[in-house]
Amino acid sequence: QLLPIYDKPLIYYPIATLMLAGIRDIAVITTPEDQDSFIRLLGSGEDFGIHFEYLIQPKPEGLAQAFLIAKDFIGRDKVALILGDNLFYGQGLGGKLSLLSEIDGAQIFAYKVHDPERYGVVEFDSTGTVVSLEEKPTRPKSSFAVPGLYFYDNSVVQIASSIKSSARGELEITAINETYLQNGNLKVTILDRGTVWLDTGTFESLHDASIYIKVIEDRQGMKIACLEEIAWKSNWISKEKMNELIAKYGSSSYGIYLKSVLADSK
Ligand code: G1P
Repeated sequence: QLLPIYDKPLIYYPIATLMLAGIRDIAVITTPEDQDSFIRLLGSGEDFGIHFEYLIQPKPEGLAQAFLIAKDFIGRDKVALILGDNLFYGQGLGGKLSLLSEIDGAQIFAYKVHDPERYGVVEFDSTGTVVSLEEKPTRPKSSFAVPGLYFYDNSVVQIASSIKSSARGELEITAINETYLQNGNLKVTILDRGTVWLDTGTFESLHDASIYIKVIEDRQGMKIACLEEIAWKSNWISKEKMNELIAKYGSSSYGIYLKSVLADSK
């Protein structure tokens, strides 16, 4: 997640998705070895008008463990989880996600892919009602994968402490979603084909994502997931801060871009 997708580290993209959803309090959960690198890269969050807290997952014991690790951070709030290697891009996506801050129950998404067996898979009946959820099934019951972006009410913390580890020794996020499904309060929204969801878990997909971002950025002359730009346009950082950031990036293309963002908004 520290490797670049074209012109910025991969982790910037999921953070941008959260920021566009209006989320400003973010816990970054990493391995013990990588924590320092993330702190060096992202800092307190002040540069982006947000707040980062850094937490450690000592062993890869599953995504659902995030809610136990971040129990105090979450407190009594509702919470969203995004995976550090998932990249979302689509017109109006941030606005739609920001409506989820008042969620009751759970909201997850479904996205049509050609290789659903690599993911959590959701099965719908003919009326569009969710019938089942399965983690990396050998024989997927549909082509709809569950992307790594989840919104929950506060009961997720208690649910996370009640689920058991899977055969691969992990607390599965799918087990959490299945609990919400059984309780009748899981909402699954299909992300339309105009929204892009890329995961970057293989060499090929990492490379593809870089090309995708480069093509769009070069064509439009605008950057995707430029955290400083999102912060500036959301009025989360001052003009002084923006000038400070421009100076920090100097004559690099990133610095020149930030300069143009500031100039355009005059
Ligand atoms: C995880 C989840 C899976 C989800 C995927 C999205 O898979 O377990 O349900 O579809 O993220 O990227 P993993 O990253 O553990 O392979």
